[in-house]
Amino acid sequence: MEAAAQFFVESPDVVYGPEAIEAQYEYRTTRVSREGGVLKVHPTSTRFTFRTARQVPRLGVMLVGWGGNNGSTLTAAVLANRLRLSWPTRSGRKEANYYGSLTQAGTVSLGLDAEGQEVFVPFSALLPMVAPNDLVFDGWDISSLNLAEAMRRAKVLDWGLQEQLWPHMEALRPRPSVYIPEFIAANQSARADNLIPGSRAQQLEQIRRDIRDFRSSAGLDKIIVLWTANTERFCEVIPGLNDTAENLLRTIELGLEVSPSTLFAVASILEGCAFLNGSPQNTLVPGALELAWQRRVFVGGDDFKSGQTKVKSVLVDFLIGSGLKTMSIVSYNHLGNNDGENLSAPLQFRSKEVSKSNVVDDMVQSNPVLYAPGEEPDHCVVIKYVPYVGDSKRAMDEYTSELMLGGTNTLVLHNTCEDSLLAAPIMLDLALLTELCQRVSFCTDADPEPQTFHPVLSLLSFLFKAPLVPPGSPVVNALFRQRSCIENILRACVGLPPQNHMLLEHKME
Ligand code: NAI
Repeated sequence: MEAAAQFFVESPDVVYGPEAIEAQYEYRTTRVSREGGVLKVHPTSTRFTFRTARQVPRLGVMLVGWGGNNGSTLTAAVLANRLRLSWPTRSGRKEANYYGSLTQAGTVSLGLDAEGQEVFVPFSALLPMVAPNDLVFDGWDISSLNLAEAMRRAKVLDWGLQEQLWPHMEALRPRPSVYIPEFIAANQSARADNLIPGSRAQQLEQIRRDIRDFRSSAGLDKIIVLWTANTERFCEVIPGLNDTAENLLRTIELGLEVSPSTLFAVASILEGCAFLNGSPQNTLVPGALELAWQRRVFVGGDDFKSGQTKVKSVLVDFLIGSGLKTMSIVSYNHLGNNDGENLSAPLQFRSKEVSKSNVVDDMVQSNPVLYAPGEEPDHCVVIKYVPYVGDSKRAMDEYTSELMLGGTNTLVLHNTCEDSLLAAPIMLDLALLTELCQRVSFCTDADPEPQTFHPVLSLLSFLFKAPLVPPGSPVVNALFRQRSCIENILRACVGLPPQNHMLLEHKME
């Protein structure tokens, strides 16, 4: 494979202008109607024009929970790559890389060459994207430790790497944040020493000032805000309180109940910055979604899809997709990092349990041959806090499925790895893909007015456990469907047909 290969699409439908790539694209799909018990399928075709601005901005990423395991690990990863660091370990020298990032370490096939072999390029070569090494980080944390100390507290990176990073991370200090004790576990109170004082309205203003300050002091074109702070308890959606944009803004003004994460979402949206929620709680209450819609600002969520859930969304797709009837899914986790300690409190665990539990719904519902209406597998999720294992999370899963003629298949999986090293590349992809989506606009022959993607950016579903989607849109959890969605939309932007995997060229005489 030619790494970082550049490519051009030679077609009358694709124009590479100085400012934008413009592609004419035929979106072929089908519409289905039910007529007297018969399904009628109508192939349809819509002509789109996609326009992608080529100028890549100077991008800042603000992390809420910057001093946590994920925040410090992502910052360290980008610095280590930028500085091309390498360090000794007992199994030899290791070099910085971006393994685990779809955009940086994933590839797509462009097609067949003269010998009939597939030609692959990195995902990041499909369209102009911000290079991760050029990202500028800032953020907030209720804990005042600088990023070097936070990296040491996280105990994720090899010591040799930490030592080299220390002087570069020492100067990075999280800005004070909003701490409302009842939203996260009581066991977190000891680290809350870096707080924004004042009323909710004053806190909102301070967050907005922080965003503006970062934008001007770092000379940025754009900022994306990402919540990677502790999992909060769910907040109740109450008419009059947070059900509409107007009510939510009034609630903040009056100092009524609002979660810290929702306060950050509102501040980001009001500053025109995309907001992404990496934790499971319902930060993006209806009022916040309406505000995003009114201001045409992207929001995405919820909960990074990093380990166990990612495997589940592959395995259950494989089982049900091959016609086996999965009837029981039992998932145990134990972990010893601060996230694990926070999740040992019942209300915070509940947020995680909900986000982990809905992940097989689309696959079950896709198969009425196996499942009667309303029928679904038993699905149990357990999380335990075991300090000794630190960030090295253990996930044990058991899947039991029915085979033909009364047979049973039980699969057991044991997965061990550093949780934050899985999450950090996902955070990177979220920022890079969201930024790219901000540069894409499109129109159709029927509606020539250019528009952007819906503010609820469901294209990011691959990266979230409980994907947020626009109202009425199907939720897709199956991992390869999610990956194809991103790949095929990016391909459409350069006028390439969807990847169909048919390889018909090799099926002819
Ligand atoms: P962590 O506990 O190490 O980091 C969270 C940080 O947020 C801490 O430094 C804490 O002081 C800070 N914090 C808490 N409340 C805050 C507030 N209101 N404002 C600013 N900072 C605040 O946890 P970790 O491992 O970094 O995970 C972060 C989040 O990502 C958790 O909610 C976790 O559930 C979620 N997540 C993590 C995944 C992983 O693989 N690591 C996967 C999916 C989700």
